[in-house]
Amino acid sequence: MSASHIFGPHGLVPSGLCFGTMQFGAGASEKDSAAMYDACRQAGINFFDTAYVYTEGRSEEILGKLIADEREDIILVTKAGAVGSSSAQNIREQLDISLSRLSQDYTDIFFLHRFDDDVPLEETFAELAKLKEQGKFYHLGVSNFAAWQVMKAQGVANLKSYPSIEILQPMYNLVKRQAEVEILPMAAAEDIAVISYSPLGGGLLTGKYRGGIAGEGRFSWDEKYAARYGQDWMHKAATSLSEIADQAGVSPAALAVAWVAKHPAITAPIISARNIDQLSPSLEAARITIDAEMYTQLNALVPTPPPATDRLEEQG
Ligand SMILES: NC(=O)c1ccc[n+]([C@@H]2O[C@H](COP(=O)([O-])OP(=O)(O)OC[C@H]3O[C@@H](n4cnc5c(N)ncnc54)[C@H](OP(=O)(O)O)[C@@H]3O)[C@@H](O)[C@H]2O)c1
Repeated sequence: MSASHIFGPHGLVPSGLCFGTMQFGAGASEKDSAAMYDACRQAGINFFDTAYVYTEGRSEEILGKLIADEREDIILVTKAGAVGSSSAQNIREQLDISLSRLSQDYTDIFFLHRFDDDVPLEETFAELAKLKEQGKFYHLGVSNFAAWQVMKAQGVANLKSYPSIEILQPMYNLVKRQAEVEILPMAAAEDIAVISYSPLGGGLLTGKYRGGIAGEGRFSWDEKYAARYGQDWMHKAATSLSEIADQAGVSPAALAVAWVAKHPAITAPIISARNIDQLSPSLEAARITIDAEMYTQLNALVPTPPPATDRLEEQG
């Protein structure tokens, strides 16, 4: 992690794991959410991710209550624009609603949740400049952007002295490695922080789907995730990961999270769970060291994505 990545008005150094609250108020009851928050704090986590779109606002309401007594010690992340557009009006309205649900005047980091092809970047970024000026957020992030979209937006921001992009939020895990091709090298080259989501592949890399998907978790009720992780080679890689983890005497989930965290461009994987029992292995990841030999072994479980240019004979 780059030492230069500090966030918020109090200059907090982010913990090596971020906790995502997408389950708060739905898969995780308020009581389970509070228990997980406490466990994260005890494990030294100061970094919490939510979004306007999560659990119809319950995620932000619950997180807002949990951080209330220690706000200055927390790096708070929220996002807008997953639903609706990145129009000035929608971004402003969603951030205002998020802050009201969170009972906050500001969020440390504000993300555009996705790239919006239909709204000019100039419109979105002019509004972001006003929102930042008004003290509603301190750092700008973008999520689910391709590398070229990040740099295009950064160009607009730099040209017009609008807020620049300081942090990214891509998907990244052992069976979803596209970020290695352009996003992570770009982040390293541009000194942009990265908090990556779905380190467990939505649960696949815990090994719990080895017997099929019926009744086991998210894949059984969320078709989007079942499709995203539906290919045979992904399930085979998950089984092999479990075997390697068994041999190493650690849990597959801990190893999967530690593998994400090992990438030099990753500031923090965003871990998540529905209850404290699920959370424990992901927290364990902070204590796992993956040596070079094991990193090679884990990387070999799935095909390394090809580089961004096709002159493969010239790659080192
Ligand atoms: N920017 C974006 O577009 C975006 C998208 C997705 C997520 N996120 C953020 O990233 C965070 C993490 O994403 P994610 O939830 O997809 O992460 P993940 O770590 O890949 O999956 C977490 C899920 O895996 C299952 N799980 C976790 N530990 C387990 C264990 N020990 N045993 C069995 N199952 C276990 C649970 O799902 P079950 O319900 O199956 O039990 C849990 O909800 C979210 O909370 C959110 O903050 C951002």
